[in-house]
Amino acid sequence: QPPKSQMEEGSVLRRANCRAKGGAPGFRVAILGAAGGIGQPLAMLMKMNPLVSVLHLYDVVNAPGVTADISHMDTGAVVRGFLGQQQLEAALTGMDLVIIPAGVPRKPGMTRDDLFKINAGIVKTLCEGIAKCCPRAIVNLISNPVNSTVPIAAEVFKKAGTYDPKRLLGVTMLDVVRANTFVAEVLGLDPRDVDVPVVGGHAGVTILPLLSQVKPPSSFTQEEINYLTDRIQNGGTEVVEAKAGAGSATLSMAYAAVKFADACLRGLRGDAGVVECAFVSSQVTELPFFATKVRLGRTGVEEVYSLGPLNEYERIGLEKAKKELAGSIEKGVSFIRS
Ligand code: NAI
Repeated sequence: QPPKSQMEEGSVLRRANCRAKGGAPGFRVAILGAAGGIGQPLAMLMKMNPLVSVLHLYDVVNAPGVTADISHMDTGAVVRGFLGQQQLEAALTGMDLVIIPAGVPRKPGMTRDDLFKINAGIVKTLCEGIAKCCPRAIVNLISNPVNSTVPIAAEVFKKAGTYDPKRLLGVTMLDVVRANTFVAEVLGLDPRDVDVPVVGGHAGVTILPLLSQVKPPSSFTQEEINYLTDRIQNGGTEVVEAKAGAGSATLSMAYAAVKFADACLRGLRGDAGVVECAFVSSQVTELPFFATKVRLGRTGVEEVYSLGPLNEYERIGLEKAKKELAGSIEKGVSFIRS
């Protein structure tokens, strides 16, 4: 009789192999920072995603507890936990998609940029692991400030010789989710029927909702435009203040992260017409990174869409966004280069 742990590993392997043999679509997904406020509900929702066959949960604390808990869910994905730096490589090996919500969140009065000092180093370390163990994986970067952490990741991958701009995506989905919700409220519609493109970046004025391109086509008063733009740009701060020191958005973020990860997996599977907003390497503006709608496919970002026609209000917003974004991108790049 083999020891229990071996038996468990055997049955886990049998299940993983079964799925592979059955031809069922199954992707291998790792979550780095899986025991955190975002990481836990994100792990739970990914365990429910039928496109996931193997789910690796990595954190520097509490990963075994979260893994044991989530592994009891009677869904298909096989869950494995990894604790601490010495298990990072095992967590990453063979992964198709890596989602990164590791790092400290904001407290009231903080900007996302105030997180740079701590989170820049965390993202660097994790991306060095990705470059070594799963350089072909799609990376969904959630850790803030996204406007700087995506350039950091790109520089780490360049240094390692593994950089593929199509596979690195900063997650701005929560801005879209918020925009859909707030716009639907104003229009008196179901948020599921509303689509608001949000471009630029993921912090304050760099978050630029394009209300002139809302679907279904809608017109807004100037007062509504001011209200919606301000609320979408400061939606994160609304949550930070309501949580009063207990962190930032976690549940809506986990929902948004799963919506985005699912789109990436559908793209990998070869589904046609998968389009979402993301902060990616881009030639849409003069900046090296910018968020717009992108089409996701088997190789990651297969097409970066242009901004489309902007009105005067949006053109002014775009200039403000680009100015701030340029500094944040440069800060990320020089963190690695210097
Ligand atoms: P949290 O503090 O609850 O969780 C972070 C987790 O990361 C913790 O479990 C911690 O142990 C782990 N961690 C720290 N260092 C690590 C390392 N070196 N390797 C692996 N894991 C590590 O924070 P929360 O609320 O989950 O937020 C995480 C990040 O997501 C923050 O940077 C936050 O600003 C960002 N965020 C991004 C959003 C977006 O729209 N892109 C929205 C909301 C938050």
